[in-house]
Amino acid sequence: MLRTLRSVWRFRRFELDADLRRLQGVADVEDLRELARRRLPSGVFDYIDGAAEDEITAARNEEGFVALELRPRILRDVSAVEVGAEILGRPAAMPLVLAPTGFSRMAHSQGELAVARAAQRAGVPYTLSTLSTRSIEEAAAAAPEARLWFQVYVWRDRGLVEEMLQRARESGYEAIVITVDTAVLGRRERDVRSGFSLPPRLGLGTLVEGALHPGWTLDFLRGGPIEFANVAGRGTGPGGGAVALAEYVNAQFDAALSWRDLDWFRERWDGPIVLKGVQTVDDAVLAAEAGVDAVALSNHGGRQLDGAPPPVELIEPVREAIEDRLEIYCDGGVRRGSDVVKALALGADAVMVGRAYLYALAAAGESGVDWVLDFLRSGTARTLALCGLRGVDEIEPSLVRWRTPRG
Ligand code: GLV
Repeated sequence: MLRTLRSVWRFRRFELDADLRRLQGVADVEDLRELARRRLPSGVFDYIDGAAEDEITAARNEEGFVALELRPRILRDVSAVEVGAEILGRPAAMPLVLAPTGFSRMAHSQGELAVARAAQRAGVPYTLSTLSTRSIEEAAAAAPEARLWFQVYVWRDRGLVEEMLQRARESGYEAIVITVDTAVLGRRERDVRSGFSLPPRLGLGTLVEGALHPGWTLDFLRGGPIEFANVAGRGTGPGGGAVALAEYVNAQFDAALSWRDLDWFRERWDGPIVLKGVQTVDDAVLAAEAGVDAVALSNHGGRQLDGAPPPVELIEPVREAIEDRLEIYCDGGVRRGSDVVKALALGADAVMVGRAYLYALAAAGESGVDWVLDFLRSGTARTLALCGLRGVDEIEPSLVRWRTPRG
């Protein structure tokens, strides 16, 4: 009996690193989300996880991928599978870009620096948000070999935008990503209910939440004051106080932005320009005519206009309309490598992920971001192998079909 017992008895080595220990029981992005939900104060989790109004678009983003079926081929020698791809004419380790997300230090004190370093290790571009909590220069210094893109929100104060473009150029950023779906901020009703502000206001409720989430609280307090790092000291930050994001965005961002303004950017940025937030075929065609280098089909993770279409449903018609004139990226609901493969089969060049890496960052810091990037890379490779494909260049439109008619 003892011999039998000995033959099956296995102890998992005790992992000393707390982040890695937490990752031991994680199998997918939903597990990371659940860990993030437990670790973060509820208001912070809801800011990341939540979306606009009834959150219908956010749910449909994910459902869009579920509605796609893969049509695998067999007996095709997939002993070596390559997931490398070209993005903006340069090699990337996989067809994936880390999307801009504001205030990443709310998830973890290392915030944008952790994400930039993980992107560098994984060999994929990382887009730093205008509303980052580490500056353009700090992110570049943390990950000098990373492909860094800079996301632009268009401030009413164009001098400020011009200055940020120059700083991005001087710090070696490869591309700019102009977000065009945020004329005004969407109504995130979870944040309305929780009274969420940036940085979080200290009140009785916050103190209780802080005590209930000691891991996050200690890390947050160690991380130093959170600020809008790219505009610090410019009189456009929240002035040391806490602000509701909608109030801040609606006061600072230029709602008068129009197609004509793209020329302004072209004159001031000689690298690639990605237009993010394209939500119709007509606008993708206008973007191609305006001479940008790529469109990111995106509804801001459902955080802006509730009722907007899932980007995954736009890929095919947009590709048909603009042919090979531009690169197409797609974000919203990407949770697995199979989603990456599905997006590429419809005609995308790459996907962007936002929440997936924020959950990972909140769950297990920089190790979490490494984990999720490896999960998406290996999932892409496995899906290709199971579909009988040796690389992303072998993906064809016939690989997917919609299970339900899309209207
Ligand atoms: C900022 O861009 C947000 O979506 O909260």
